[in-house]
Amino acid sequence: MQASEFRPVSYSRTTITELMIPAYANFGGKIHGGILLSLMDKVAYACSAKHAGNYCVTVTVDGVHFLQPVEVGELVSLMASVNYVGNTSLMVGIKVIAENVKTGQVKHTNTSYFTMVAKDDSGKPTPVPGLLLENQEDVRRFLEAIKRREIKEHSRQVFENEKSRLTPEEDLTLLEKERCRLGF
Ligand SMILES: CC(C)(COP(=O)(O)OP(=O)(O)OC[C@H]1O[C@@H](n2cnc3c(N)ncnc32)[C@H](O)[C@@H]1OP(=O)(O)O)[C@@H](O)C(=O)NCCC(=O)NCCS
Repeated sequence: MQASEFRPVSYSRTTITELMIPAYANFGGKIHGGILLSLMDKVAYACSAKHAGNYCVTVTVDGVHFLQPVEVGELVSLMASVNYVGNTSLMVGIKVIAENVKTGQVKHTNTSYFTMVAKDDSGKPTPVPGLLLENQEDVRRFLEAIKRREIKEHSRQVFENEKSRLTPEEDLTLLEKERCRLGF
């Protein structure tokens, strides 16, 4: 397929389900956040590479907030779909749920967004196919991705501006209400 062609969202929709084994647990008995991040990276790769028809790399990860702990013995499912495509980049939305197999209770642990870039054989970014939006849900996700990118870029610029105006001497007052003290 040529990069100028379009692939439907359903073509690359990917789900990975994995049992949470004791080796994945932290000292508190809950699943390590890093285990979930690794699974999210894996499903983001599978979904993006399938859409791109090329090797992809992870560039940024947004919206990782673990809302509820995941327990040993739960079945974790990660559902990924391409929400947005640029020229060489694509954004993959990932919804993570954990199911207690005994009770059937399902909890939503997080929804995150991975920006991936397709690479050619020489390691250079390469164009990806366009995205064929198949229903209103696909349209909503694409529009939200546009807004997410705009807001992120705006907040990056605001932060850079604020950072450049920060003078440690003058802004020491900001520290007064924080739980820190100077050790020098
Ligand atoms: C991301 C990377 C490909 C960008 O390379 P580059 O030569 O700067 O390429 P470009 O400037 O042409 O950007 C390529 C695409 O990445 C996007 N991009 C680059 N930096 C980005 C960022 N911080 N956030 C979101 N998208 C970004 C660009 O918008 C562009 O998308 P588009 O083609 O859809 O418009 C390069 O920095 C890289 O390979 N990084 C390492 C990624 C990696 O190895 N990840 C695995 C984890 S170690």
